[in-house]
Amino acid sequence: MNVATKEHKKVTVPMLRARKKGGPRITAVTAYDATLSRLLDEAGVDILLVGDSLGMVVQGLANTLPVTLDEICYHGRAVARAARCAHLVGDMPFMSFQLSPQQALASAGKMLKEGGAESVKLEGGEPFAPHVHAIVQAGIPVMGHIGLTPQSVHAMGGFRVQGKEEDAAARLVADARALEQAGAYSIVVEGVPADVAARITEAIGIPTIGIGAGPHCDGQVLVCYDLLGMVRDLHPKFVKRYAELGDAVVTATRSFVDEVRSGAFPTAEHSFGATGPRVVGEPTGTRPVVSSIPPPYGPAED
Ligand code: KIV
Repeated sequence: MNVATKEHKKVTVPMLRARKKGGPRITAVTAYDATLSRLLDEAGVDILLVGDSLGMVVQGLANTLPVTLDEICYHGRAVARAARCAHLVGDMPFMSFQLSPQQALASAGKMLKEGGAESVKLEGGEPFAPHVHAIVQAGIPVMGHIGLTPQSVHAMGGFRVQGKEEDAAARLVADARALEQAGAYSIVVEGVPADVAARITEAIGIPTIGIGAGPHCDGQVLVCYDLLGMVRDLHPKFVKRYAELGDAVVTATRSFVDEVRSGAFPTAEHSFGATGPRVVGEPTGTRPVVSSIPPPYGPAED
């Protein structure tokens, strides 16, 4: 059971930090829209991450580099409107923070003001400690991200496991320490050997959240579409699929296509009488409507 379901309250940064010592392990899942945000939040996930992975799984790009700050804010607002208990992390996209600590702070501030984020995540180790420090000093919590950092895809020569050699593993431990020292409240450890993730986890006093980093981290994160089995043609080793929604979507949509063609849908059961539809909802604007269920799309039952 996680913090949200047990105490039925909002997951905060101090609560997440405390999980390093007291457990249970932290659960994080990416989210990009209000519908999935509501479902994942109801399932009791601790963290919803508006990841720049949206460039690949939502926009169909080859990597995350083209994702913009405005796009993260747009998706962040949608996720924030539907999440009740989960902590909302916004991912700082490529070139929204690398230029300077000042640029990093300005971008992080925008993500909290306009993107629904409650904390921000940024990729990179020791060289970005000043950037993390500047953001934390302004009262914005920061999650680090080391190991396989997708924004460095070209420098890494592809999406490759990092830290396999001793000097690279030692550098990752130093990176984690530097980020903790700069004030980060947790660190995503991606694509590293399990024993290296264990070393990093032992070396620091803040929670590590693993992805493709084995079982020894203080938490785990997955991309929602991977967890739900919506990406049917890829089976990365580090992903466990907890459902096969990709198959379910294709099967359901095939049934819809067949029934519309055959005339089996719609029937009288799905039709309105002569009095016509009634309008049921007003637009909600940009204000978060934390726990309300939006009206169904389309006209209501009369
Ligand atoms: O962008 C993302 O979704 C991420 C997670 C997979 C850690 O960075």
